[in-house]
Amino acid sequence: MIGMAKPFVGQEEIDAVVNVMKSGMLASGAVVTEFEQAFSDYIGTAAGVASCNGTTALHIALSALDIGEGDKVLTTPFTFIASSNSILFNRATPVFIDIDEDTYLMDPVKLEAYLETHYTPEMKALLVVHLFGLACDMEAIMAIAKRYNLAVIEDCAQSHGALINGKKAGSFGDAACFSFYPTKNMTTGEGGMTLFNDASKADLGRKIANHGRVDQYRHDVLGFNYRMTNIAAAIGLQQLKRLDGFNDLRIRNAGIYAEELSGVAEIQLPFVPEGYKHVFHQFTIALKNIDRTAFQAFLKEHGIGSAVVYPFSMHDQPVYKDRCEYDSLEVASSKAKVVLSLPVHPGLTEQEVLTVCERVKEFCVQQKEARS
Ligand SMILES: Cc1ncc(COP(=O)(O)O)c(C=O)c1O
Repeated sequence: MIGMAKPFVGQEEIDAVVNVMKSGMLASGAVVTEFEQAFSDYIGTAAGVASCNGTTALHIALSALDIGEGDKVLTTPFTFIASSNSILFNRATPVFIDIDEDTYLMDPVKLEAYLETHYTPEMKALLVVHLFGLACDMEAIMAIAKRYNLAVIEDCAQSHGALINGKKAGSFGDAACFSFYPTKNMTTGEGGMTLFNDASKADLGRKIANHGRVDQYRHDVLGFNYRMTNIAAAIGLQQLKRLDGFNDLRIRNAGIYAEELSGVAEIQLPFVPEGYKHVFHQFTIALKNIDRTAFQAFLKEHGIGSAVVYPFSMHDQPVYKDRCEYDSLEVASSKAKVVLSLPVHPGLTEQEVLTVCERVKEFCVQQKEARS
């Protein structure tokens, strides 16, 4: 089976975990601190707060930036539910801005237009998601945020190592949140990290992740137990060394798809703007005149995995009924009906990617013949 994800764990990760086990210091400790520093240095921020997953990393970010009841946070409706759930956790309201046709990312032109007509002082922050491995247009977004005095949170769960003109996704805003789930570009088993450009916010974030603790049994803010273990951090330190290599392989695989499928009329390929390094957490195509369900069944029949990422715009999720605001989400709604992600992970051989391309082309020809 050519699957959608295959986390790579080498001998170095195994040895690092064994060392932690032998040390007896299994919970959060020096290895977590080392990982926080190494990952924060890699992205280019002041400090990092490790946590037990990407969802808690988002909750820490919004809490440390003081997003609370009555506030509104502008965000994208086309993402994994954890992104906007973090806004609801803090009793704030998500305001969904539609996405760009080609990149599937928050469209800065639509964001600006929305703010011009709907801005209210309750709008405190912008939560952008660098989806599928491609960073948002941060130059435009940061300029808008500055004009409207909005804090900026970057959801980088899918964009470890992505670049805009040499600058890393996660280094632009007030806070950046990463996930280290096993399907991500690097893993710690389960894990997350919130990066801050302001060290005092990182100190607050660290407290929030550890019961608001200032001293043993002394707590001055409301916190949670969101701590990462030394075991997870030991895996993370080894995976971080491999991250650029993993991303190179994802980019190689995406390049094979782009070359082999470029002339196929039924497929819209991912768009990579000039100056951007897309790290292809997903290789997501949009289908034209093709039945997605039949296409997935055909691929499955031939031993190829695929995934619909994501089948709904967030405003269509039952849990978001009466819990969000939006104007028009036409692009997000229509893209949700036609997107399909193909396997792109670093464990694939070139031959496996070529096999997927052959099957994709075969299905498209069959569909064309059936239409004529
Ligand atoms: C865009 C995005 N944000 C947040 C998360 C949440 O991360 P985790 O699953 O580690 O909680 C994910 C995970 O899939 C994600 O893709």
